[in-house]
Amino acid sequence: MNVLGIDIGGSGIKGAPVDTKTGELCAERHRIETPQPATPRAVVDTVAKIVEHFEWKGAIGVGIPAAVQEGVVRTAANIDKGWIGTDAIEALSKATGIDKIAVLNDADAAGYAEMHFGAGRKKSGVVIIVTLGTGIGTGFFVNGHLVPNTELGHIEIDGMDAETWAADSVRKRKQLSWKKWAKRVDTYLNYLQRYFWPDLFVIGGGVSKKSDKFLPRLTVPTPVVAAELLNEAGIVGAALAYTHQAARSKQTLSLG
Ligand code: BGC
Repeated sequence: MNVLGIDIGGSGIKGAPVDTKTGELCAERHRIETPQPATPRAVVDTVAKIVEHFEWKGAIGVGIPAAVQEGVVRTAANIDKGWIGTDAIEALSKATGIDKIAVLNDADAAGYAEMHFGAGRKKSGVVIIVTLGTGIGTGFFVNGHLVPNTELGHIEIDGMDAETWAADSVRKRKQLSWKKWAKRVDTYLNYLQRYFWPDLFVIGGGVSKKSDKFLPRLTVPTPVVAAELLNEAGIVGAALAYTHQAARSKQTLSLG
């Protein structure tokens, strides 16, 4: 099944049709700058432009940097606060005319993609995907099953919200050396390690392309690997989320 995967990020909104069996993009991805402020109206209109670009009429899966329950956005750390309480499925459906829509947290989406087609493939136990970008996102998997909306980028370290101290945007803004920033990432991962004892960390986000600059400096005892789908994980995972949702609702129907 082909699903249009869309990744709403702090700087860009990207989309491409995805073959959910193989995880491959069926066309070159299309990117539009994230409107500022990233209000629900402005963002859903941008998503509609991506849908139009591909002349898409089928299902879509959308990843958004927020906790999402049943399509309703619950938090807004790096997007406009107007998102809180917004029914994203309803808003997207109005803007695009499409009614087959799944919406989930962006790091959960990236995690799905890595668990199916990337660094987490065939990994059992507890796997935590950590996306380092504008903020810090986490996708938490137990034997391949997602525990949604973990929001571990917001754990407190020395009284600070971890993402305001260790996100990749902080490295860039403060012009931290790789060594200094790697130390922060290491401290952060050590916290997660002590609380959750994962079997594997997968580091995603744009910076995973430069993993050779910081992975070798980490001392956390848990194995840490770089994500494999790089820029595409959010798109691929959002598309996969739609197929998961569709499979779940079929199951509920047959159970009911
Ligand atoms: C948000 C998360 C998101 C992460 C990465 C955080 O600020 O709270 O929902 O997954 O940024 O975008």
